[in-house]
Amino acid sequence: MTASLLGLEGKKAIVTGAGQGLGRAFALLLARAGASVAVADIDASLADSVAKEARALGVGAIPVHADLRRDADVAKLVAATLERFGAIDIAVNNVGGLGGHKVQLVAGSSDAFWDDIVELNLRVTFLCARAFAAAMIARRTPGVIINITSVAGMRGSPGMAPYGAAKAGVIQFTETLAQELGPHGIRVNCVAPFRVETPAMLKYVTPENRESTAQAVPLRRLAKPDDVAGMVVALASDLARHVTGQTIAVDGGAMTLPGYSQTGLAGLQAQRQP
Ligand SMILES: NC(=O)c1ccc[n+]([C@@H]2O[C@H](COP(=O)([O-])OP(=O)(O)OC[C@H]3O[C@@H](n4cnc5c(N)ncnc54)[C@H](O)[C@@H]3O)[C@@H](O)[C@H]2O)c1
Repeated sequence: MTASLLGLEGKKAIVTGAGQGLGRAFALLLARAGASVAVADIDASLADSVAKEARALGVGAIPVHADLRRDADVAKLVAATLERFGAIDIAVNNVGGLGGHKVQLVAGSSDAFWDDIVELNLRVTFLCARAFAAAMIARRTPGVIINITSVAGMRGSPGMAPYGAAKAGVIQFTETLAQELGPHGIRVNCVAPFRVETPAMLKYVTPENRESTAQAVPLRRLAKPDDVAGMVVALASDLARHVTGQTIAVDGGAMTLPGYSQTGLAGLQAQRQP
């Protein structure tokens, strides 16, 4: 990693949902590039251990135990980061997923399935972005916000309607935020992963469906968390200094296929059930 080319040494970053999976990879790659990180997670012991891993890379790191569905916890995260680091230069809004729900087709799905998933993916992104943007504007420092969406927000996803709708909302929210914050020197972009080997995704990928899942992607493999982290760090860096309002898919080329269809986790789950 050419740290000086990226310009991330000494920057102060927040990563939400950084206790495992993609968020952990984002926090640790930012740390390798020289940024200090606030590692926020609803699971305190996961946050602790990732902050420890980041400190071992030679940067400052703090764990912040927070349920980011609560505005008070978002405020606590901002306050803890400013107290320890004095600024927020980079914020990655990564919290999301199915929130413990199993996939459900729309007909017959529960209210809780819709409400919980839209809250976790869209409302949490809004609550965090609002607070991070306000802190960046108040300190008059140029900043970067990166929202994590999904290719499920760009194509239909059977079994995951609220997830797809919320992730599509995150893409639209990113465009609006980029326009509102551009005059303050704050860039806002979105990264859309597809089937990354994280604890959440590995519940659906089995030895039986792994090969067919990988073969559906032009690059012929599932993504690793670090594949997505590379794009997050690139967007956070000086190399992307004139890029804002964009959504970049990190999907191994899946969406370029003429016959591409996002079968969704319902498809993978069906393959698991005899
Ligand atoms: N894994 C994939 O294939 C994939 C594909 C597309 C998009 N994504 C998106 O990437 C992001 C991360 O996914 P992942 O697979 O790493 O998920 P994950 O479930 O493995 O990790 C999510 C982390 O967020 C934390 N978290 C959950 N709720 C929280 C809350 N209310 N407050 C604070 N922390 C909370 C969890 O404790 C966990 O550490 C999500 O937004 C997801 O929608 C993932």
